[in-house]
Amino acid sequence: MAKKPLSTHFLIAIFLLHILTPIQSQQFSRKLSKNSLGFKKEKLTHLHFYFHDIVTSRHPTAIKVAAAPIANTTRSLFGLMMMMDDPLTLTPEPRSKIVGRAQGMYASADLKELGFLMVLNYCFTEGKYNGSTLSILGRNAALTPVREMPVVGGSGLFRFARGYAQAKTHSIDFTTGNAVVEYNVFVLHY
Ligand SMILES: *[C@@H]1O[C@H](CO)[C@@H](O)[C@H](O)[C@H]1NC(C)=O
Ligand SMILES: *[C@@H]1O[C@H](CO)[C@@H](O)[C@H](O)[C@H]1NC(C)=O
Repeated sequence: MAKKPLSTHFLIAIFLLHILTPIQSQQFSRKLSKNSLGFKKEKLTHLHFYFHDIVTSRHPTAIKVAAAPIANTTRSLFGLMMMMDDPLTLTPEPRSKIVGRAQGMYASADLKELGFLMVLNYCFTEGKYNGSTLSILGRNAALTPVREMPVVGGSGLFRFARGYAQAKTHSIDFTTGNAVVEYNVFVLHY
């Protein structure tokens, strides 16, 4: 069968497609009103819980994943890195209701004093915040009375979150290294 000559209309259509496609693929952003996604009024929420860092136990919740060769020769444990999945509870009692977990890492990042780089998510499992998370990135000078770490973001009900977390050691066992830390977290979110 003989090939049909391409119609002019068809050629014009192909031409337009070629010049329009790159323009369309560049439209990867657009302006939206906050209301269109349900972000109406920003609110301030206070969360209070206890963090259990269990290092020495038959079932530890924080384990060493790396250490620089000098980590055990410095008082600050510089170069030590721990991975945690620590329970967050309502009261200091380890068997009290678990409201979430602190999942992430802490690493000794200070040559002189005990100062951890904290990189973690609070993954909440209770009440209306079940399934929502808050992300923390900050410095934790663990031996000072109150440490403050920024809340850098969140998910679920905590979308667009920002704020700060204040940590106060409730109890620490210097033989085992296990610690209970009280947290007050103040978050702005929608
Ligand atoms: C430090 O740890 C290394 C292994 O990582 C070990 O060989 C060494 O004996 C330890 N030093 C001290 C002072 O505990
Ligand atoms: C939290 O959400 C998970 C997953 O949707 C569900 O399995 C669990 O039962 C919920 N927990 C509570 C306490 O509501």
